[in-house]
Amino acid sequence: MAATIKTQEEIEKMRIAGKLAAEVLNMIGEHVVKGVTTDELNTICHNYIVDVQNGIPAPLNYGQPPFPKSICTSVNHVICHGIPSDKKLKDGDIVNIDVTVIKDGYHGDSSKMFVVGKPSILAERLIRVTQECLYKGIEIVKPGTTLGDIGHVIQQHAESHHYSIVREFCGHGIGATFHEDPQVVHYGRPGTGDVLQEGMCFTIEPMVNAGKRYCKILPDNWTVVTKDRSLSAQWEHTLLVTSNGVEILTHREDESIPKIISH
Ligand code: MF3
Ligand code: CO
Ligand code: CO
Repeated sequence: MAATIKTQEEIEKMRIAGKLAAEVLNMIGEHVVKGVTTDELNTICHNYIVDVQNGIPAPLNYGQPPFPKSICTSVNHVICHGIPSDKKLKDGDIVNIDVTVIKDGYHGDSSKMFVVGKPSILAERLIRVTQECLYKGIEIVKPGTTLGDIGHVIQQHAESHHYSIVREFCGHGIGATFHEDPQVVHYGRPGTGDVLQEGMCFTIEPMVNAGKRYCKILPDNWTVVTKDRSLSAQWEHTLLVTSNGVEILTHREDESIPKIISH
């Protein structure tokens, strides 16, 4: 099934939820340091969302088995859905923090990479190329673009750097429900798949591995890791298709890409 078209009222609520998710990522940056545990980061984000934003952290109790925390923290070879724990971050770790805020019934979903101390050249390059993959996908979003077009530019960029794209997890439509149709995969062929229309909201969230694309799920039934234990990176934004381009609903000021792109 294709994505639903949001009404003007829904779009207003998506803008607010998106802004809140972005603000959590802005807020948490200074706390991502050597020695902090990912559970401490979870508590800081949870309290901020609940007490400051009067929002709801969507991951908490989501799915089956219920996700036990309020954010996902995916460190080094963890691809996604890492569960915050009492393990301390150490120098050179790379960590994805994925935040989803529900406000007034609508979801804003975004993630970014953080580095602890000084990362390796390889880690830095993987993080940069993965963000470029996200941006290359975003840059072509407008009515008429297909999901295959988006997957293709992302896959091309990752593979041109000899990295691989995770296929088992993907972006998604988003709105009053956390994960809606369509599935937004990060690989594909130009001209295939659903055609974008004004008023659709969806995420792009490429997961890029330094090694092979294969993954496995740990016995906790959530944590997804690279099978070859290679490093993995991910960046995510929630997007709105406009009449002539795209609005990044979870845009942050520190980004090089503009919030609104008009073609
Ligand atoms: N935020 C993730 C996404 O981008 C989903 C996390 S589901 C959870 O779609 F239960 F692990 F939180
Ligand atoms: Co998402
Ligand atoms: Co997310």
